[in-house]
Amino acid sequence: MRCTKIMKQYRIAVVGATGMVGRKFLQVLEERQLPVSEYFLFASARSAGKQIEFNGSTYTVRELTDSAFQDLNIDIALFSAGGETSRHFAPIVASTGAVVIDNSSCWRMDPDVPLVVPEVNPDAIPDYRKKGIIANPNCSTIQAMVVLKPLADAYGLKRVIYSTYQAVSGAGMKGYTDLVNGLGNSSEPLQKFPHPIAGNCLPHIDVFLDNGYTKEEQKMIDETRKILSLPDLAVTATTVRVPVFYGHSESINVEFEQSFDLDELRAILSDAPGLIVQDDPAKNIYPMAVDAADTDPVYVGRIRRDFSVANGVNLWCVADNIRKGAATNAVQIAQELIRQWEE
Ligand code: A2P
Repeated sequence: MRCTKIMKQYRIAVVGATGMVGRKFLQVLEERQLPVSEYFLFASARSAGKQIEFNGSTYTVRELTDSAFQDLNIDIALFSAGGETSRHFAPIVASTGAVVIDNSSCWRMDPDVPLVVPEVNPDAIPDYRKKGIIANPNCSTIQAMVVLKPLADAYGLKRVIYSTYQAVSGAGMKGYTDLVNGLGNSSEPLQKFPHPIAGNCLPHIDVFLDNGYTKEEQKMIDETRKILSLPDLAVTATTVRVPVFYGHSESINVEFEQSFDLDELRAILSDAPGLIVQDDPAKNIYPMAVDAADTDPVYVGRIRRDFSVANGVNLWCVADNIRKGAATNAVQIAQELIRQWEE
């Protein structure tokens, strides 16, 4: 007799469902068809009662309050509603038994909260039991991890230098609107950025810290070390906002502990999960934000030896910051969590 295991159906909440990332959560959830019995959509009081069409049904947005999760028996709550909302509500929601997968930076460096890129460190997920929270890394960090992990395993990392070219959608609706208005020569005041973004590059993402770095740069440094379990890795970053709607681009300069063969390195990247090599300069083929936009993989190209050091390589890496950099990675964490629960 054949025995078919009946898979549990899960109850999933989306907090920040009306926002830039929250709406992408819904799209990716619909595409991936997780084993879900019921969805619950939350946002602030401003959006309570709003109707959202999703997965063939109409959902009414609920207001997130301290008691909103009581008696709902939510299994997984995907949060993208800003750091302060997560700081207050994630522990409250976790105390109801739900696992919070949080897209803000609020919990990422907490030693009791795993920081996860499913292709890279799925083994960290069970640590969610400590606080009931899993953190989704910074968008620029996620795509770099997918590239660096297989190379770290093969050759050992000695030093990493990131230079990023980041899309305005990473700054939410207001950042997106600043570029739309700027391109249209609108006289509307800027909503998000301190200077015009149309026709400009801003070497300024998130706030400046006392050490001269921006918080975005410090996030890339700290999160890289945590995800790769390399607390002493030499790593530095310059993060720049550019007038692109979707898709973060990054130059990654890596120095390895060991010598490497460039063809072998290419083969390793070609085999890496979640990664597509686009590297044929003779045909003008390399990763670009316009191609990566609205797709899930990370793309890498311009793979070339850095002749200025003994064991160095230069890479160009692009991914959709709202998909792999945020919503897709969070949904992949949920999928991996469910897979681990079902094991
Ligand atoms: P709302 O639309 O009701 O303001 P973005 O990053 O694109 O600006 O989106 C932020 C998301 O976070 C929105 O869905 C927003 O809801 C939600 N949000 C902001 N503050 C809160 C809060 N205090 N409680 C619940 N959701 C919030």
